[in-house]
Amino acid sequence: MTAALAGLEPPKDMTPRQCTDELGALLAPYAREVEADLVLWMVEPDTPPELAEAMEYCVLGGGKRLRPALVLLSAEAVGTPAHDELTRRAAVAVELVHCYSLVHDDLPAMDNDTLRRGRPTAHVKFSEAMAILVGDALLSRAFGVLTECSDHKSNLLAAELARAAGPAGMIAGQAADMGLCRIPDGLEGLVFTNTRKTAALIRSAARMGAICAQANEPQLSAISEYAHSLGLAFQLADDLLDVVGSADKLGKTPGKDAQAGKRTYVEQVGLDQARCVAQELTDQAVEALQPFGPAGEKLTELAGLLTERNR
Ligand code: IPE
Ligand code: IPE
Ligand code: MG
Ligand code: MG
Ligand code: MG
Repeated sequence: MTAALAGLEPPKDMTPRQCTDELGALLAPYAREVEADLVLWMVEPDTPPELAEAMEYCVLGGGKRLRPALVLLSAEAVGTPAHDELTRRAAVAVELVHCYSLVHDDLPAMDNDTLRRGRPTAHVKFSEAMAILVGDALLSRAFGVLTECSDHKSNLLAAELARAAGPAGMIAGQAADMGLCRIPDGLEGLVFTNTRKTAALIRSAARMGAICAQANEPQLSAISEYAHSLGLAFQLADDLLDVVGSADKLGKTPGKDAQAGKRTYVEQVGLDQARCVAQELTDQAVEALQPFGPAGEKLTELAGLLTERNR
């Protein structure tokens, strides 16, 4: 029986890589909370053990848990420090969508990566067919986890997440990134891609937390603006790390974007200018939090730490 089916802690080799830095320290309590809930909700009974094992490998092995932390932090900023069941389910759901996106992003037909979160990617560890199916399983479980709850707001959250993850959101961005659909030239095209492939899910995470906490319209719009800019800055930092980062810290192979001829900020405007744009986007994210006053402090801190991150 697998860890999740037995309701046990993940096996030792599946515990997340240690976070000792400031970003890790900020995210750690949220990561711990969502990891316990992932173990609780991710695998449903009657899942074949081979599939459950592969799902657990892809989800429980490390990861910063940024998106679930954003769900919880946004709920806190709006004024709900206790994480109710729907908020916790939203945090799990967005991480499941994210993990599925990574498994598929790494496939040979996509970015063809062999290292993820410091370990062999799913198709290397298991098989390509299993990696495709794990992605399918995680995506469908995300919506199961979100809606297997009596709270009437779960439908609203499911629609929010489906829009962000779907063909007008993350999938559009991934299609653009792979050169499968026409996008504007130059930086405009890059903003098109990054808004969809990365910022859409990050924005929906923050919005789901705010919706769970009964945010009013101005609060929801401020959180959305914050997370949109944060999401763009996040992808920019990811692209920078692909150039200057190390496999040891990143847990993935650097240098892949240039090798694959990906259009990124670094490739378009160079390292220094890309760093400036990342800082500008971070400033815009922080600016959007003004209406929250001191309640937005942790989200402000998070924005700064994400831009400086090394993983
Ligand atoms: C990587 O996301 C994919 C991007 C959208 C850039 P993360 O950097 O959040 O990956 P994990 O979850 O920490 O492994
Ligand atoms: C991934 O962007 C975006 C999604 C998974 C949707 P990247 O391809 O840059 O992410 P990494 O660098 O492989 O983590
Ligand atoms: Mg990619
Ligand atoms: Mg990739
Ligand atoms: Mg990348």
